[in-house]
Amino acid sequence: MKNIVVLTGAGISAESGLKTFRDADGLWEGHDVMEVATPQAFDSNPELVLEFYNQRRRQLLTVEPNEAHKALVKLEVHYQVHIVTQNVDDLHERAGSSKVLHLHGELLKARSVRNELDIVTRKEDILVGDLCKNGYQLRPHIVWFGESVPMLDFAIEITQKADILIIIGTSLQVYPAASLIHFISEDTPIYFIDPKPSIQENGKEHLKVIPKTAVEGVPTLVDSLID
Ligand code: APR
Repeated sequence: MKNIVVLTGAGISAESGLKTFRDADGLWEGHDVMEVATPQAFDSNPELVLEFYNQRRRQLLTVEPNEAHKALVKLEVHYQVHIVTQNVDDLHERAGSSKVLHLHGELLKARSVRNELDIVTRKEDILVGDLCKNGYQLRPHIVWFGESVPMLDFAIEITQKADILIIIGTSLQVYPAASLIHFISEDTPIYFIDPKPSIQENGKEHLKVIPKTAVEGVPTLVDSLID
């Protein structure tokens, strides 16, 4: 079976009702969303940072996977499929994808501030004073700006084995996630679905840019790959 690697970003969940980071005004209650996603913000104002994620977690529990998430599941009948997502939602899993690697963590998990391996499932709000079993404050299991990306080496290993790379709904502005596309071999076909794609075809035959939304573009691409 051929290997397909699918790199997804916030755009694939937009039509489920979850906002992307850079499309709208990029603000949350007057704060730059990038500024509430740092360890410094958590140290100086933990209530604010926890509330940012509490609101997002509550919202996640009210939305559903869309036709793009669901279409990707169909690829698994014909290919080895690895989803490498920058998203912290669980919509790929709920749609039924079996191998999902979360580069930036998972909103429905919490971890100890002292130990990034001490992770628990968490569907409720996290508040200041909520402690892990070893007595340390809990924080969202999210990789913040300035923190290392623990799953990166595994993601690189997976990407290197890709026979086909599909990129969906990402501005490719955040590193090291965006650098993953450099780990495929030279003529590996790339399909990039995004209504405002940040890379152009440039005459390279192996790169196909599909300027559509995820729900418009992914089911058609999947059908063409399994035909
Ligand atoms: N379908 C597909 N793509 C869409 C849609 C849609 N319906 N709507 C918007 N997009 C595209 C935008 O054109 C943009 O290219 O989704 C992309 C969203 O980009 P970002 O908001 O930058 O999201 P992402 O690339 O996932 O951000 C990467 O940044 O803030 C951090 O850690 C966070 O994982 C996140 C990372």
